[in-house]
Amino acid sequence: MRISKAAYMVGGAVLTAAAVGVASFTGSPNARDTAPTGETVVLSSRLPADMAVENPVGDRSYYDTFSWKSFVALSWPVRADGQADAQMIGADGDNATVWGTWMEDYQILVADGERPPAWGTPAVPPPACQAIGAADKARVLYHTTKADAVVSSSLQAQAGPLIDLNARYVRYEIAVNRPMYDYIVDNSLYTQAGLKAIGTIDFPARSRAIGAERATMVKAAWKVLGDGDNPARFHSINAYVVNGDQCARVQLGLVGMHISTKTESAPQWIWSTFEHVDNAPDASADKTGHYNFYDPDCLQSRSAESCTPNALPDTPWDPSRPGQVPVQVVRVTPVDAETAALNAKFQTELKKANPDTVWANYMLIGTQYPQKPTDTTDPTGRPFPPYLANTAIETFMQGDTPMVSSSCIGCHNRATATPAAKPSDFTYILSRVMAKE
Ligand code: HEC
Repeated sequence: MRISKAAYMVGGAVLTAAAVGVASFTGSPNARDTAPTGETVVLSSRLPADMAVENPVGDRSYYDTFSWKSFVALSWPVRADGQADAQMIGADGDNATVWGTWMEDYQILVADGERPPAWGTPAVPPPACQAIGAADKARVLYHTTKADAVVSSSLQAQAGPLIDLNARYVRYEIAVNRPMYDYIVDNSLYTQAGLKAIGTIDFPARSRAIGAERATMVKAAWKVLGDGDNPARFHSINAYVVNGDQCARVQLGLVGMHISTKTESAPQWIWSTFEHVDNAPDASADKTGHYNFYDPDCLQSRSAESCTPNALPDTPWDPSRPGQVPVQVVRVTPVDAETAALNAKFQTELKKANPDTVWANYMLIGTQYPQKPTDTTDPTGRPFPPYLANTAIETFMQGDTPMVSSSCIGCHNRATATPAAKPSDFTYILSRVMAKE
């Protein structure tokens, strides 16, 4: 069924009231909540349900609006029970988030055959972190590159660590929502036996008809806040970072975030990616000012080689090794003008809630979606845009070179879960079960 524009606006108006004042408000999706760029931006703790029309080919505004609404709802202040709070996003500048309470990959895929702890069970920090006072519930971050422990050599060849201007490694975190966790647990997908027994791995998809939250996963990139960083500009957390058998307590600022949502209209999932606005200048732009991952005066203090944009750092890669050389990051593909206009709208709306909100310092880079989700000749559903990269996560795979540059769907389509290479429905999480065997 097609929903008219008027219906979106009614939906928007209802949401405005609900978002600011209703305490029992939860994050469950709203079936009417997907408006194209031209319409009023509404901040809400409700996730958008799915596209309003059948994949409007080439119209990125529907998907970008979906992305922003997802980012806002998932970053909404969270209550103790993990549901969205009645308070406005960023009302206190920064806030603990809904997605921050999700279960992390390492909590779910404990070891082959071991049942993951119940949803919401706090992670037990590793001994090295307990030794410096980490209590249960502490956020602990392990990953430094895509290459950690899991994936095939072709991926490792393309990826490497991102090192910031203070010579610290950027950290990555992967978390899934409750419906995704439930599907893994209910089908015993944390075991090799479960992975073999299931016919097709098919995570539950959100739809306009059902209007309930379904599978969503997040990958976040964090930098250690230090010299040159203004903590008031970042969504930040106190966390423990692990380097081998060492652990350190640090303040981390969010610099990148992927959100992947499976919906009925997009069985290849919808791939949204956000960055901190200070991350990196466009390759072709004037490069003065302060960036998280670019030093305009690089050549004054470093060799021309080390100032080469987006160059992979030298090995060995070791976050505890002193004297690391920062990566000089530039954005190869500028953000689309229409996406940039939508960014301005959401940022303005966020600042209305609080001029000092940290959330207005984030921008959508783009949304990759399947244009022809049921194309029988192409399991990736002809992704649009064909390439999409986050400068803090796919730093070394930016651009538009076929087979080389980052395509979220193109790469995640290769994710498998068993030695028999069963497709794992676009998530790499289940490849960790294999890694444990
Ligand atoms: C070259 C391959 C590749 C590309 C391109 C890629 N990813 Fe991933 N992604 C991975 C791998 C491998 C993992 C898991 C391991 C890791 O993150 O270290 C992952 C993890 C994730 C996760 C966490 C859930 C999971 O599957 O483990 C999300 C969410 C995600 N990526 C989103 C994206 C988005 C959005 C894009 C495009 C902007 C993208 N990825 C591009 C390979 C890729």
